[in-house]
This record gives sequence, structure tokens and C-alpha cells, in this order.
Amino acid sequence: IAGALGLVIAYLVGSIPSGYLAGKLLRGIDIREHGSRSTGATNVLRTLGKWPALVVLIADVLKGVAAILVARWFCPWLTTELSPTPPTASDLQTWVPWAVCLAGIAALLGHGRSIWLNFTGGKSAATGLGVLLAMSWPVGLGAAAVFGVVLAIARIVSLSSMLAALTAIALVCGFEHPLPYRLLVIAGGLYVIIRHRANIQRLLAGTEPRLGQGSPDAK
Ligand code: G3P
Repeated sequence: IAGALGLVIAYLVGSIPSGYLAGKLLRGIDIREHGSRSTGATNVLRTLGKWPALVVLIADVLKGVAAILVARWFCPWLTTELSPTPPTASDLQTWVPWAVCLAGIAALLGHGRSIWLNFTGGKSAATGLGVLLAMSWPVGLGAAAVFGVVLAIARIVSLSSMLAALTAIALVCGFEHPLPYRLLVIAGGLYVIIRHRANIQRLLAGTEPRLGQGSPDAK
């Protein structure tokens, strides 16, 4: 029960529609009707400008961090405090890491398919970065560094996000990491890439706009 509640909370944290709220509060618009139709910081940048985008970016990263911190605190607490037969330390070591990693996936799903937005949302790259930073900051920093370098060279955010996701997968596979965390990063990274499928089509067609150079005509 503790694990399931942790997942629901992580999903709801991920669902907080920061980009959508920015559009509604600042300009009275539905961001999902503009640009790439994503509620992420990149679309907020092209639709609302750099300061709203920075706030949404930070909020979306913090959603990922918060989901992991809440799950880490909540799962052992609920089990230890409320269970009629409190688990042993080895029980907690066995299932809590799995519950926390699933909470990371739940946060990504919440951002990409928000319960408040008819299961639409963003592409989960920023929330994914928050999850990575909370789970293992070196992997998060490695992915963020690749994002920064690719963005500086190519000036295409979607390409930078996908290469950062692949970097995170390569880092967890290449170095010693617990199995639940490896699976979290592989599944989360693939989810972020799948959410970019419209961007992939535009990249292949050569029509994906570079940063500050127009807006995709997405459906
Ligand atoms: O994280 C989203 C970014 O990689 C692409 O956003 O709006 O250009 O599809 P967008």
C-alpha cells in the first residue's frame, strides 16, 4: 500500500501543469494550442518568452526531484509507522528502491500525461532531469552537460534532450548502478525519446526549428 500511494503521489506531483498555468496566468492562452503544443519549457519559451520559460523549467525539474524525495520518505514511513507487522530492515532495502524508481516513472508519466490536462502535457525531459539529479546527481549532471553542449552546437532543443536521455542510459549501463535504478533510467529515457516522435519526424524532414528561429507547425 505504501508503494502504491507513493506512486500516486509521484504521478500527481508530475501532473502539476506548470507550463499550462504559465500560459493561462500570463496571457490567458492554452499553451497546447501554440507552437509544438507541448506544455514544456521550450514551448513556453517560444510562446511566452524567456522568464516564464525559466520559471517553468525550474518548476518541472523540481517536480522530478520532489517526486523522488517524497517517495523516499513516504514509502518507509508508511510501512514502518502504520503496518501491523513492521518490515525488517532488509525488507525495506528490497522493495523501497523499486518503489522509489517506479515513483520516478510515475512522475514522468504525470508530466507527459497530466490528469489535469486530459492526459496531455510535455515531453518529460526537464522532469526526467530532476528525477536523475535526485537519484544520482553525477548521472543527472552528465546528461545535463551533454544537453548543454549539443544545444550550444546545434541549437535544437529536442535533439539535445534526446541525446541527453541516451547519455543517461549509457551512463547507468556503463557504471555500477543498482538494477532498479538502471531500469528506471532506461525506461524513463526511452519514454522521453518516444514523447519526441513528432520532433524526430521534423528532424528527419529538416524542418525542426532551431532555438529562436520560428515555431514548429505541430498537430
Ligand atoms: O523537452 C522538450 C524539448 O526537447 C522539445 O520541445 O516544444 O520543441 O517540442 P518542443
